Amino acid sequence: MRIAVIGTGYVGLVSAACFAELGHHVTGADIDEAKIAMLKEGKSPIYEPGLEELIARGLKSGLLHFTTDVKECLPEVQILFSAVATPPNEDRSADLQAVFTVARTVAEHVDHDLVFVNKSTVPVGTGKKCEALMAEILKKRDLNVSIPVVSNPEFLREGMAVGDTLMPDRIVVGVNGNNREITNDELRVANGTRNSQFVTRNSFNASALMEELYRPVTRVGKPLLFMSRESAEIVKYASNAFLATKISFINMLTEFCEKTGANIRDIARGMGLDDRIGPRFLHAGIGYGGSCFPKDVKALLAMAKEHGFDFSIVEATDRINTRQRHRFFENILKTLTPKSTVAIWGLAFKPKTDDMREAPSLDLLRKLVDEGHTVKAYDPAAEENARKLLPEISSSPTMESNILYLHSSIAAARDADAIVLLTEWDEFRGVDLHEVAKTMKGKDLFDGRNVYEPTEVRAAGLVYHGIGIV
Ligand SMILES: NC(=O)c1ccc[n+]([C@@H]2O[C@H](COP(=O)([O-])OP(=O)(O)OC[C@H]3O[C@@H](n4cnc5c(N)ncnc54)[C@H](O)[C@@H]3O)[C@@H](O)[C@H]2O)c1
Repeated sequence: MRIAVIGTGYVGLVSAACFAELGHHVTGADIDEAKIAMLKEGKSPIYEPGLEELIARGLKSGLLHFTTDVKECLPEVQILFSAVATPPNEDRSADLQAVFTVARTVAEHVDHDLVFVNKSTVPVGTGKKCEALMAEILKKRDLNVSIPVVSNPEFLREGMAVGDTLMPDRIVVGVNGNNREITNDELRVANGTRNSQFVTRNSFNASALMEELYRPVTRVGKPLLFMSRESAEIVKYASNAFLATKISFINMLTEFCEKTGANIRDIARGMGLDDRIGPRFLHAGIGYGGSCFPKDVKALLAMAKEHGFDFSIVEATDRINTRQRHRFFENILKTLTPKSTVAIWGLAFKPKTDDMREAPSLDLLRKLVDEGHTVKAYDPAAEENARKLLPEISSSPTMESNILYLHSSIAAARDADAIVLLTEWDEFRGVDLHEVAKTMKGKDLFDGRNVYEPTEVRAAGLVYHGIGIV
């Protein structure tokens, strides 16, 4: 099939590369010229395991192309994905400007039927607005083409995005109107032919085209769920808010543990072995960050408010997350003596990514520097992105404090008064704590992800500060 993906960020780029891997002809478009220049050379602008290999293979096979001009993607395209960013507005709602820009460009330049897919996370009702916007433009152009808008939310996890896309737990497709009502005959056509032109011309039908697109994935048993567009738009927010709530629940328990002398790890293990609960997302820590959970929780609350609905459980999730981060930071700041040197292990919002969006490290580093401490930071992948947001301040004569970027955990720990682990990269689990203790000046280890066994840390001569572990 002929696919276009607009926006080649974490979601769009992975989708484009994976669709090409599955045999489709894909053009990825982005307004970021530097990004597209890198992609044309086969280089991935983001750190994502396995992605660069896929890009190289797609370029070599001729199935994958990149452009800075959305119009170039349009000829003969059957399905166009909008995967542009939907960052939070000041009032917590999702900023949909980029989504509407893509819809407008498509409607102004297309000359044939195509399916417009919202892959970005967008509030309920956005598909309807996109459809209305495009219909108005098409009417002005006096053009009789059909552009059904489909919701196909993305559930990939950064760091595992390629696997999540090629072997997803489920694919959700929200289609409204007649497009949902496909007959068995039409489905058989879509399932039985490799000739997608036939499906397009004779039974232009968004559901059938989506079915055909994902056939390589459904063929290996992965479920494709059709539902209304409104339901699909909400599934994504509901999933993220639910996972965030699980995290906030266990995080709130840490405070109770600290008051009662209980151990959160034992409690999480005891809860997680219950099949109905499960162990995942029960790891207590400094709270969730990243580009999705914080923004999607807030956008769901804005959506609820717009509909006059009090989503109190999600409101609490958001509040607890902020509180948890501050509790941890306050503990660090009150322990440090003036002008301390603090080693930061991990800057990215989670391991296996270089994504710094809403990373707790940003807040903490700023606080430490504001209070006159020196930071020695190390992250296996996110240093470059971190430097853009928090430039290195090296021995500045006008500043009392500095931010320095180091190239290993041990180099960051050298002569430090304290270590703060913020991201649970695997390599931090295996560090030799005895060696670390010898190289440090002070003894405090703040474990923001409860990675270490307190007894082992203490045996190495360090002072352990976990979360919900007394
Ligand atoms: N990152 C994730 O883990 C993840 C997971 C699931 C869903 N999502 C959702 O997917 C969407 C995209 O997220 P992301 O993390 O890939 O964002 P991103 O910021 O990494 O990528 C967005 C890309 O869109 C480009 N862009 C913006 N406006 C454009 C336009 N008018 N035309 C062409 N390109 C344009 C930007 O230059 C950027 O490269 C968001 O709605 C997000 O909530 C993200």
